Amino acid sequence: MTEPDRDVVVVGAGAAGLTAATRLRAAGLSVLVLEARDRVGGRLWTQDVDGATLELGGQWVSSDQTALIETLDELGLETYERYREGESVYVGPDGTSTRYTGEMFPVPPATEAAIDALVERLEALVAQVDPDRPWEHPDADALDRVSFEAWLAEQTPDQEARDNVALFIAGAMLTKPPHAFSALQALLMAASAGSFSNLVDPDFILDRRVVGGLQSVPLRLAERLGDDVRLGQPVREIAWSDVGALVRTPDLAVRARHVVLAVPPVLYSRISYSPPLPRRQHQLHQHLSMGLVIKVHAVYETPFWRDLGLSGTAFGPYEVCHEAYDNTLHGDPRGTLVGFVSDRNADDLFALDADERRERILTSMSHYYGPQTLEPSVYYESDWGSEEWTRGAYAASFDLGGLHRYGPDLRTPVGPIRFACSDLAGLGYQHVDGAIRMGALVADQIVQTEKHRTERTR
Ligand code: FDA
Repeated sequence: MTEPDRDVVVVGAGAAGLTAATRLRAAGLSVLVLEARDRVGGRLWTQDVDGATLELGGQWVSSDQTALIETLDELGLETYERYREGESVYVGPDGTSTRYTGEMFPVPPATEAAIDALVERLEALVAQVDPDRPWEHPDADALDRVSFEAWLAEQTPDQEARDNVALFIAGAMLTKPPHAFSALQALLMAASAGSFSNLVDPDFILDRRVVGGLQSVPLRLAERLGDDVRLGQPVREIAWSDVGALVRTPDLAVRARHVVLAVPPVLYSRISYSPPLPRRQHQLHQHLSMGLVIKVHAVYETPFWRDLGLSGTAFGPYEVCHEAYDNTLHGDPRGTLVGFVSDRNADDLFALDADERRERILTSMSHYYGPQTLEPSVYYESDWGSEEWTRGAYAASFDLGGLHRYGPDLRTPVGPIRFACSDLAGLGYQHVDGAIRMGALVADQIVQTEKHRTERTR
């Protein structure tokens, strides 16, 4: 079926694509959003699982994420604070569980000093990094040649200090082992949140949630766009020239002057381009890959850890579940814990059968909260690596050397095709805030291009 021509076709109904479409429509342009899945939201997905409402993908909002906060305000969405009263728990290298308050883990004094020195060094570098152009840092080339693991080893011989600092960027953010990405990539991750301290402070970065779930953002945006969002429409082909494109799914074809490719970069190659994308993009896209994390949801009749004086915040760089939090749903008398199992730990656990995996994960979480953790009434693992239209979590990052070599062309348009996704963002990189920023950026660029075009044809 051939659709009437549009000014812009947006591929992907995640936060980036729907933000772009909303802005373009507001500027008077006609849009059509084509979404492969039978739902909108991409990596934002609120589901009822065995009677519990769970946010399977992104959920937290922090105060620096101003693009997201503006969108929440515009859409009339309310937020609530993560529960954080009480003590946190740290499980160290010998498996000892220690309760603590404040930001510093309860590590030996020498390790604490080594962590302080590492953080100071990182903060100084992060302050020099523009998250939109990390490759312009004077030492960018050198910083992109060395893995984060090797860079940390150059800074301190204290293994526990290195493991703790590595955890925040590797397991907890890029969800790749620290040998798999560069020090420059690590600096970008921290700079995208304003500072390393912001990134590692759960009270900052994991501050609030949205009443009704963060998927309410794409759901409400899509509702306003109405019939201009089509579900179950995987884009397979884009035939393009300098003046426009013909975009095809198995069911429909539509011509447009502009295309916004609002899908994770690892999926660009699922589409056939005619003519093919330029060499530079073919190469660049191969150097980006998704991290891998299992987001574990465990619901209990009551938030029992609160009665033990625990906030629910827990870290263990040597644990299978390296971090966990109170994730109780707004207004729910039950208690929910969320835990994360990252990169190589996730590989190992996915090699087990489901029962064994659940037992291993809950046992690890019980090291934080005690034996009651082993008996949740609802248990669920978000497995984004198995999702055909995502293929990992949380997002994509460059391999060693890729950011400095290819970063400058990450967002360079190809003919009428522009790229928008959280994985290409500076501020808000790998977060919904970044997706919204990228959607808004490409929309503004298209609006400007259209303005010049109409002026020329007048
Ligand atoms: P996204 O991947 O969401 O959207 C792309 C869309 O394109 C998808 O709907 C996909 O189906 C579609 N698509 C792909 N190929 C297509 C094709 N060929 N044709 C048509 N459609 C196609 N962020 C945050 O701010 N706070 C948080 O707490 C978290 N936590 C978190 C946990 C987990 C488990 C995950 C997986 C992710 C997060 N994130 C997060 C990250 C956040 O969810 C993510 O950065 C954004 O939702 C990404 O939005 P985008 O629109 O850029 O891509």
